[in-house]
Amino acid sequence: MLKIVVCVSGGGTNLQAILDAIDSGRITNTQVLAVISNNAGAKALERARDHGIEARALSPRKYPDREAFNQAFTEEMEKLSPDLIVLAGFLVRIPPQMVAAFSGRIVNIHPSLIPSFCGVGYYGLKVHEKALERGVKVTGATVHFVNDGMDEGPIIAQKAVDVEEGDTPETLQRRVMEQAEWILLPQAIDDIANDRIHIIDNKAMRRK
Ligand code: GAR
Repeated sequence: MLKIVVCVSGGGTNLQAILDAIDSGRITNTQVLAVISNNAGAKALERARDHGIEARALSPRKYPDREAFNQAFTEEMEKLSPDLIVLAGFLVRIPPQMVAAFSGRIVNIHPSLIPSFCGVGYYGLKVHEKALERGVKVTGATVHFVNDGMDEGPIIAQKAVDVEEGDTPETLQRRVMEQAEWILLPQAIDDIANDRIHIIDNKAMRRK
């Protein structure tokens, strides 16, 4: 059984997609140990509690500095000791000590086709604003392992989504979620839970 902790910051639609996929059997051999958010008001925490899953808030603002938060967050994670950490719309940089402690055991969903529209400053709706500003005709989403770079770890899966005439950042975000994110992330978790994906090192993975 793959034990996972899901980290979230806002609405939690990706978390919901994971919970629905576990309920419907599209994700097997997986148990959600807890959901952690940097934002106590996140709707995602409510979604977790509604599902009977332990939900915790850990806000950087409650700590004297980022290092103190990083340390507390990593210790919390070590106590939970998951097999896999899933970043499902988590908008805080993962502490380097957590990346080291959970090497090859953290995955992230990003709402673009990496390496486009990713890295520092590209998160949430901003990614879609930048894609529309640039006038791309195709965008999408990427699931990848997390290493010590920003959106630089080995790519697990990607799915392209068309940009349509008249799109706003909000309409584009919704289409990318519906057509890519809510499919890719549950699929990747199921693949890891059922041993179909193997991480080689911080730069590469392969399917078995
Ligand atoms: C999702 O689009 C996710 O891909 C993105 O934040 C949104 C969260 O939505 N993540 C990033 O931008 C990470 N760099 P949700 O809370 O409804 O799942």
